[in-house]
Amino acid sequence: GAPIEVDLTPITDGQIINVFWRGKLIFVRKLTGKEITDMKAVPLADLADRATFDSRVKSGHEQWLVVYGNCTHLGCVPIGHQGNYEGWACPCHGSQFDAVGRVRRGPAPINLPLPPYAFQSDTKLRIG
Ligand code: FES
Repeated sequence: GAPIEVDLTPITDGQIINVFWRGKLIFVRKLTGKEITDMKAVPLADLADRATFDSRVKSGHEQWLVVYGNCTHLGCVPIGHQGNYEGWACPCHGSQFDAVGRVRRGPAPINLPLPPYAFQSDTKLRIG
């Protein structure tokens, strides 16, 4: 699979868009200031799959989250802006993920993984 480019210009604060790379669903999410503040404040001890905020985003582009869009339990597509953690809720068996895709309620065992990606500019993302 060749890399894809995503134009970030039309994405508004709080919005999640779906893109596909190598046949896999990927969520690109523009975090709000509140979401960033809230996610930075989550104690690592509260997390089943411990990951800092900084490890989930790129330095200098912390408003952007890029994660695979299939639940790490059995692969259903979690619904954005649902659940109790400003993130996603899975319709299949109730897993919940926070605004940076960390699992906050099982049965999903691990966080939504990050695909390889890089920023070509402040408004252009390359996945792959
Ligand atoms: Fe998401 Fe089972 S597939 S909770």
